[in-house]
Amino acid sequence: MYRQQLMEQLKRFVELEDSQLLGLIEIPKEESHGDLAFPCFQLAKQFRKAPNLIAAELADKVNADLLPVFEKAVAVGGYLNFFLNRDAVIRDILATIAKAGNTYGNSSVGRGQKVAIDMSSVNIAKPFAIHHLRSTMIGNAIANILDSQGYHVMKINHLGDWGTSFGKLIVAYRNWGHEYDLKDNAVRQLLELYVRFNQEAEKRPEMEDEARAAFKALEDGDEETVRLWKRFIEISLAEFEKTYRLLNVEFDYYLGESFYSDKMGAVEEELAEKGLLQTSEGAEIVDLSAFDMPPCLIRKSDGATLYATRDLATALYRRREMGADLLVYVVGAEQKLHFRQVFKVLELMGHEWAAKDCIHVPFGTMFVDGQRLSSRKGQVVFLEDVLRKAVEVAAGIIEEKNPALPNKEEVAEAVGVGAIIFNDLKNNRVNDVNFVWAEALNFDGETGPYVQYTYARISSLLRKGDYQPDQKLPDTMSAVGGDVEWSLVKLLGRFPNVLDRAREQYDPSVVAKYVIDVCQIFNRYYNTTRILEGERNEIVQKLTLASAARTVIGKCLHLLGLRSMETI
Ligand code: ARG
Repeated sequence: MYRQQLMEQLKRFVELEDSQLLGLIEIPKEESHGDLAFPCFQLAKQFRKAPNLIAAELADKVNADLLPVFEKAVAVGGYLNFFLNRDAVIRDILATIAKAGNTYGNSSVGRGQKVAIDMSSVNIAKPFAIHHLRSTMIGNAIANILDSQGYHVMKINHLGDWGTSFGKLIVAYRNWGHEYDLKDNAVRQLLELYVRFNQEAEKRPEMEDEARAAFKALEDGDEETVRLWKRFIEISLAEFEKTYRLLNVEFDYYLGESFYSDKMGAVEEELAEKGLLQTSEGAEIVDLSAFDMPPCLIRKSDGATLYATRDLATALYRRREMGADLLVYVVGAEQKLHFRQVFKVLELMGHEWAAKDCIHVPFGTMFVDGQRLSSRKGQVVFLEDVLRKAVEVAAGIIEEKNPALPNKEEVAEAVGVGAIIFNDLKNNRVNDVNFVWAEALNFDGETGPYVQYTYARISSLLRKGDYQPDQKLPDTMSAVGGDVEWSLVKLLGRFPNVLDRAREQYDPSVVAKYVIDVCQIFNRYYNTTRILEGERNEIVQKLTLASAARTVIGKCLHLLGLRSMETI
C-alpha cells in the first residue's frame, strides 16, 4: 500500500531502477516508527557515505518536496521512515472502497486466462467424505478468488464414476438388490452392497471374475448394465446435491471419469507413438525412474485402464477441448505422487505446458474432535450428518442469544455450515485440521460465526445510524483519525494485496486470517468508541469507516463461501 507513491517520491533523489526501489521498501515492525521504511544501506556505495548520513540527508531533501499522501520522513539510523498523511490516506482508502463496493479488491491480472478447477470430485456410490468437503470448500474459495482477479473459471466435479469397483457393485446388486429400496439413505445402502460383495468374495473368489465381466460389459456398452450403472449415479448425485445445497456450492461441469473412457485409447496411442510405453509383467507402464518416481501405470495386465490413464486423458481434454490455460487440482496431499507422475508423463509426451500450467493444490486431513472419519469396513460418519449437527448446535446458541430473531432457521443453517467451512479454511491448507465442536461455533473465537456476527453487528449499526451508502465523503475525516481507526483503515487498504497473495499461493487461509484481523480491530474500535454520538457530520465519518469494514468483511465471507446476514 502506497509503495508505488513512495517509489515516485524516492525516484526524485535516488538513482535506482523503479523495481529496485520497490524491492527495498519495507514496513516497519513497530507501527509507531512509521508506515513505510526505506533502508539506505545499499546506497552507501553510490553516495560513498555511511547509511545513517545518507538517511539524514535524504530526510531533509524529501521533507522539502513531499507528495501529499506523506506527512513526513524521519531518519532513524540507516533507515528513512515515512509517515503517511492520515487524513489524506483515510479519505483515499474510504472513498475507493465506497466507490468500488463489492468489487473492491478485484483486479484483471487473470484477464483472458481460462482456469479449469478440479474440485470436490466425489465418488459415486460412496459416502461424501470429509476430504471431499475440504476439496469442495477450498476449491470453491480458490474459484471465487481467481474469479475476482479476472480469470475465467470453470469449476469441474470430476466424479469417480468408473473403474472395476462398479463391476463389483453391479454383481452385488444383482444378487441382493431386491433387499434394498434405494430410497432414503440410498448411498448408505449402495455402500452396504459393496461391503457385502467384498465379504462374500472372500468366501467365493469366483465372484471377482463375475465383477470383472460386469465391468467389461459396462465398458462395452451393454444396455442393461449401463442402465443399472446410470441409476447408481443418479441416486448418488441426488444425495450429494443436498450437501452441495447446504454448502451453497455449484459446479459448471459434472464430468466424471467415465466421460474419458473412450478417450484413453488415443492417449495410449500417443504414448506408444512417442516411444514412452513399456510392458512390464504384462502391464503397460511409463518408466519414470529417471525422475526418481515409480512407473506410471497405464493399463493393468487384465486389460483394465487406471486412474492415471484417465487423468492423462482428462488433462488433455481440458487443455485442448475446453481451452483451459491453467489446470488446477484441489485434491488431498496423499495424491501428491499421482499428480507428479501424471504431470511428468504429459511433459514427456511433449506437452511442455504441463510443467508450469498443471497445479496440484494439496491439503491435509480433517479430523472431527480429534477422530478420523474413515470409511473402513463401512463404518462411516456421513458429512451431511456432521453439517446437520452443526446447524442444530447453532440453532441452540441462537435460541439462547436472540430468541426473538425472525428467520432463526435460515440463520442457524448459515452459521452452522459457516462454522465448518471457516474452520476448514482458516489454517494453511496443507496442514491437518481438527474440527472441535465447542471451538468452531464460538461466536468470540477465530471462527466463521464470529465473522458473520461482526458483519451483522455493523449492519445493525448502519441501520440505527441511518447511513446512506451513496452519500458524499465528509470533507474532513478527523473524527476517525485515532490510532485504532488508523490501523483499521490501513488494514482495509491492504485488501487488494491480500487477494493477490491468496491467488499466488492458491490458499484461502490468507483471506480467512485477514478477515479475522479486520473483525478484531473493528470490534476493538466498536467497543471503545461511541459511534452514534456527537455531531451528525462526525457520526457520518465514523459510519463511513464502519461501512467500509462491512464491505470488506462481506466480500471475504463471499469469497470463502460463507453466507452473510444482516441480523443474527
Ligand atoms: N475421486 C477421487 C477421490 O475421491 C478424487 C479425484 C481427483 N481429481 C482427479 N482429477 N484425479 O480420491
